Amino acid sequence: MLKPKSLVWLAVLCGFAASPGVLADGTRARQNYLIYCMGCHGEKGEGFGEQVPSMRGSLARLAALRDGRSFLLRVPGVTQSSLDAELTAEVLNWTLLEFSEPEVLRSIPPITAAEVEQARSRPLLEISSLRARLLQGDKPDQESPGR
Ligand code: HEC
Repeated sequence: MLKPKSLVWLAVLCGFAASPGVLADGTRARQNYLIYCMGCHGEKGEGFGEQVPSMRGSLARLAALRDGRSFLLRVPGVTQSSLDAELTAEVLNWTLLEFSEPEVLRSIPPITAAEVEQARSRPLLEISSLRARLLQGDKPDQESPGR
């Protein structure tokens, strides 16, 4: 049986999502990913050597953590993108769908334009060690990036 959260992603997949910026248009999201993100993240989210971590697997793990969700909204590639908040949320949801196992997504609410907007006023200053701590399951010791 489908749980409510998976219904949200089903709506996202089918392009029926009512809230703007979720994934109104999968083709547009893919194109925007290819134009604005692929240069660093690779066509399949595989990353680039040691400089850009792979999104495959870790993206959903981060999105499932409250502080991890805040982290992925506040990395420079997201806060400094020339895409508006709505299209950025759409691309992020597309990357989550493309680069994650469907069963992991069930516990993750889709990213909204409002969240992207809010994160833009709070870009991350310290990134790679925070990422490592989040993925190791440690509590970040700096001021909580979650709120
Ligand atoms: C100039 C290279 C560059 C571009 C362009 C870029 N990113 Fe990134 N991105 C990075 C790097 C490097 C990281 C790792 C964290 C850091 O050091 O900023 C990252 C991390 C991320 C993360 C966190 C995932 C994780 O596992 O750490 C997300 C989500 C993300 N980027 C999304 C995007 C999206 C969406 C776009 C396009 C709108 C984009 N990025 C464009 C370089 C880039």
